[in-house]
Amino acid sequence: MAKELSGEVYYPSEEVINYARIKDWEELNEFAKKNPLKFWSNEAEELHWFKKWDKVLDDSNKPFYKWFTGARTNIVYNCLDVHLKTHRRNKLALIWEGENGDWRTMSYHALHRETCKFANVLRSMGVQKGDRVTIYMGRIPEIVIAMLATARIGAIHSVVYGGFSVESLAERIEDSQSKVLIVADGAYQRGKIVQLKKIADEALERCGTVEHVLVVKRTGQEINMESGRDMWYHELMNLPIANNTCTLEEMDSEDPLFILYTSGTTGKPKAILHTHGGYMVGIYTSLKYVFDIHEEDRYWCAADPGWITGHSYIVYGPLLNGATSFLYEGAPNFPYPNRWWQMIEKYGINILYTAPTAIRGLMRFGEAWVKRHNLSSLRLLGSVGEPINPEAWRWYYKVVGNEKCPIMDTWWQTETGMFMITPMPCVPLKPGSGTRPFPGIEMDVVDEQGNPVGPNEEGYLVIKTPWPAMIRTVYNDPDRYVNQYWSRYPGMYLTGDSAKKDEDGYFWIIGRVDDVIKVSGYRLGTAEIESALVSHPAVAEAAAIGLPHEVKGNAIYAYVILRNGYEKSNALIDELKQHVSHEVGPIAKPEHIEFVDSLPKTRSGKIMRRVLKAKALGQDPGNISTLDE
Ligand code: PRX
Repeated sequence: MAKELSGEVYYPSEEVINYARIKDWEELNEFAKKNPLKFWSNEAEELHWFKKWDKVLDDSNKPFYKWFTGARTNIVYNCLDVHLKTHRRNKLALIWEGENGDWRTMSYHALHRETCKFANVLRSMGVQKGDRVTIYMGRIPEIVIAMLATARIGAIHSVVYGGFSVESLAERIEDSQSKVLIVADGAYQRGKIVQLKKIADEALERCGTVEHVLVVKRTGQEINMESGRDMWYHELMNLPIANNTCTLEEMDSEDPLFILYTSGTTGKPKAILHTHGGYMVGIYTSLKYVFDIHEEDRYWCAADPGWITGHSYIVYGPLLNGATSFLYEGAPNFPYPNRWWQMIEKYGINILYTAPTAIRGLMRFGEAWVKRHNLSSLRLLGSVGEPINPEAWRWYYKVVGNEKCPIMDTWWQTETGMFMITPMPCVPLKPGSGTRPFPGIEMDVVDEQGNPVGPNEEGYLVIKTPWPAMIRTVYNDPDRYVNQYWSRYPGMYLTGDSAKKDEDGYFWIIGRVDDVIKVSGYRLGTAEIESALVSHPAVAEAAAIGLPHEVKGNAIYAYVILRNGYEKSNALIDELKQHVSHEVGPIAKPEHIEFVDSLPKTRSGKIMRRVLKAKALGQDPGNISTLDE
């Protein structure tokens, strides 16, 4: 039995422990701590390799770590092909519900077939190993098929979240030099159609690498199809070339699987690169232990495939574990605030993994909406993306989980690829803490000099050991990889978060310490919002900050200096908000815009967002000695 812990603690019930795969976290952790490489290679042994590795970890060229070197595999083989030879062949891999009530299911056999067909289509377009393919769609089964098909033939997918808009898409296509874009005509969101193809057309006017645009028909409205460039997915899938079998590209363990753009401290979003071998081992293992996937489970990760959560834990992780995954297209409260609870009951979902912002949003509608449904199928709950405030945690635990479902609060990042700080079902929980690092991973909270701080003291969150699903580099920018993550403290990976560790060794995340803003769990850079603002003719300069928001966690506040000749007006504020939404995406739309005559800057001209934030919150701005008068 675990020792007595301090604070508000929720111990797992006997029933939970009896059912859990791991009943003694300490034991697993002890083993992994003593033999990290053995721990990871034991896990890797459970997967299929065309050729086994020579070395588990190659750290001869730090921080460019390599995992399972010399091994040959393909993550898609482990996601699909291996299951076809087992009882899982006819098991559901995917259950999908559209916002408008459409639904589809796909067995492992069917998902394999569709993936092979589409992989053949991509090959026929000339897509080869190492080529980049951009995918821009809503939450529909074809996004999963497109990702798997791309990876099957050894190409690199770059999924751009369907909530991003023209400039964000253009920038990502351009940076990745994609030859092919896979897009949907539209997506249903809150009863309306998001015009994805129209946004893509506009983006393609700003970048020049794409030769083929493959269009999935989802919403069916009239769209522009440019002859010679644009082709319908359903037509291509009916051609003889779209064969049911498709030879799979055997990949080196370290060959790239995907790039995924994410916001950083400065400048443009950067492409985080993940590989076939280590990433596969990391997410297979973490999902297996944390959400404790059992054969009969129906698992729902309510994120979007366009973010890392979707890559790791909607697409690859569940398929590697042979699970049945549920995918829902639309908004949680459409047409009524019981939509999610209705679907959990309808499909008998056992595991729900979502973000605090969604919980807070649904909490506002009151518990009656939840209580009208039988949610007794639920066994485990999960949270990700931002710190979960204890009130939301308790509501989730009591109202949704009926006090019997442990909450897995998982801390991780696009860069980490997999859960890093997380409980398992057998671990005692404290609301608001992700508990401790996953076995085999060492993390700490350190001061400016890199020395560990005392219990409950705030500091920088760092990772002290390499892990298999770790970022390999920033695509096309290895210097940025080194500078951003490994230069501050030699040998330690800098997460960009601040945190505390309590007397029980439990980690408490405070938030980002850089210029990243988490809005509704989405990661945005102040630079993206600011450059969208200054691309408007009326704006001379802009600064964006995040301020606390009840549902979104943080909301964007922007300060704008107008160019000469432009008048301050409410109409202009609305226009600027619309402009950001059009350029970056609706998620980046500022909550509030204020016109100012100057911005606080350092003598070297850097905007001091900290000062703006303190002023907006009515707080002391702290040390302002570097402020230029
Ligand atoms: O600040 C942390 C926050 O999300 C950041 C990573 O964002 P992204 O790369 O978009 O990945 C999000 C999904 C994995 C982190 O630096 N974050 C993520 N999970 C948590 C969290 N903050 C607190 N608690 C979490 N569980």
